[in-house]
Amino acid sequence: MAKRVRIEPIAQIADIATNGALLSGLMGEELSILKECGGRGMCATCHVYIQDGMSSLSPMGKREKRTLEVITTCKPNSRLACQAKVMGEGIVVELPVGMYVQSIQDIEALIGRRCEKPLLSPITGQTLVEVGQLITRSVVRQLENTNFSVGEQLANTKKADVFE
Ligand code: FES
Repeated sequence: MAKRVRIEPIAQIADIATNGALLSGLMGEELSILKECGGRGMCATCHVYIQDGMSSLSPMGKREKRTLEVITTCKPNSRLACQAKVMGEGIVVELPVGMYVQSIQDIEALIGRRCEKPLLSPITGQTLVEVGQLITRSVVRQLENTNFSVGEQLANTKKADVFE
């Protein structure tokens, strides 16, 4: 049987199959969730806050815990929507503000504009460009050393997994 999940701040209701990943409901709402790592719990792009009903979600696994540790916007009620499974009723999800970017080119394409939503790193969830900030070449240059490569991150984490 499906469970009802409320999504804030857009005030949408999603029906998600019991034991289904929270992410499936969010995708159904056609939100721009990147799921950069393909739902493997290794990036920050499906990070959400649970406003209510944390106990109605599956417990957090090691991989999710480790990924959340590197997200700078992580709070005690953070979860990764691809890892958290819906087990019961009463879940209210809050989507973080901002847009995840896949590469430096995504930011380069916006040169000359003011940022309308914070641009976020797919790996750390960190704000790379604030709302209202003018995106210039020097902003892009400053971000050139930022690691956008979720693939690389996955490769490093896989090595660490071996020793668990
Ligand atoms: S899609 Fe990457 S952690 Fe969920």
